[in-house]
Amino acid sequence: MPELSVVVPAFRERDNIPALLRALDQALEGLDWETIIVVDDAFDGSEDLVRERAQQDRRVRCIHRIGRRGLASACIEGMLASSAPYLAVIDADLQHDETLVPKLLEAAKRDSADIVVASRYMEGGSTGALAAERVRASRAASALSRVICRGLTDPMSGFFVVRRGFLERVVRRLYGRGFKILLDLVAAARGQVRIVELPYRMRSRERGESKLGARVIAEFFMLLLYHLTGRLLPARFFLFAAVGVTGVGVQLAALSLLFTVSGNFLFSQSVATWAAMTSNFFLNNAFTYGDQRLRGARIWRGLLSFYAACGIGAFINIAIAEWLFFKSLPYWAAGLAGALVAALWNFFTTASFTWGGSSAAKR
Ligand code: GDD
Ligand code: MN
Repeated sequence: MPELSVVVPAFRERDNIPALLRALDQALEGLDWETIIVVDDAFDGSEDLVRERAQQDRRVRCIHRIGRRGLASACIEGMLASSAPYLAVIDADLQHDETLVPKLLEAAKRDSADIVVASRYMEGGSTGALAAERVRASRAASALSRVICRGLTDPMSGFFVVRRGFLERVVRRLYGRGFKILLDLVAAARGQVRIVELPYRMRSRERGESKLGARVIAEFFMLLLYHLTGRLLPARFFLFAAVGVTGVGVQLAALSLLFTVSGNFLFSQSVATWAAMTSNFFLNNAFTYGDQRLRGARIWRGLLSFYAACGIGAFINIAIAEWLFFKSLPYWAAGLAGALVAALWNFFTTASFTWGGSSAAKR
């Protein structure tokens, strides 16, 4: 068994993988290591390339995930597939300086740290040629992340070494979605973590492109909420609820438009409700379930089951609210309680009927 597993999340990185393997081979000379490349399906042949290398070199392994996406979940699955006492996480696009890995490992052993982080924001570190607006966003996100974790100069880093015992201690409390796996690990430790940071200079990407998009940004805010609320509800519920709030906006906007034009309330309210459910479905499919999105013909089957589940949810909502109102609760409290129970109903039923598999609700 190697002492160090280097876990590499990779999505559409075919052109970077050969150079990455060469760089690791050089940087880790003399160490007992392996690399686990977690490739999410992109029909670009990355997995074939990794497996070809794996046939020539036992230190290379491939995890090929189909129908799933996500940097954080790729890292978690890669780390769990290893039995090594130390785990490194590094990007596939050569932006992280692999020559730092031996030093990260050494610091983990010497200082018996749980996590050793490569930081861009401490003395000696740098964001390199990273675009100014990306640096500003990264700084702002770092500042905001203090609500769930302190003691890191670069909580947004995606480059670190972690002790396997630490991972095992916190793995069941992880949010596990989006990009911020380091922040997730530290927040899940609830202060019980020894951190060491070492500076590095981030390189710029030569090939391929960044996958940081709107969904990843939304997931960052949900990660904060998930840890802030004490991990009470399944990770996925937070985005589902946020989408539900946008649905209220769609509903009211459509209602006011249609009612002004037609003057018919029942008609306007019905069409507005349909519009809100439809927009909720597509937003949930793109964001909440973006890592296992329904595509092609499955979208229409999914949409119908979503209408059915939310239709029943609406009845539950009204029934509960009316009962509580009858029990002389104030109207707004009765309404809120009805909406909350309906949101939970909608979430759990669509998690299994619309987006399939009972495991969908959990992550
Ligand atoms: N398996 C898999 N699945 N890998 C993914 C996915 C995915 O859905 N999305 C991204 N990756 C991989 C990329 O292929 C790359 O190897 C790595 O994760 C980072 O993705 P980039 O798209 O290059 O992100 P970035 O450069 O904007 O940001 C990275 O570096 C920052 C600084 O350390 C991320 O690691 C950030 O979290 C980090 O803050
Ligand atoms: Mn990158």
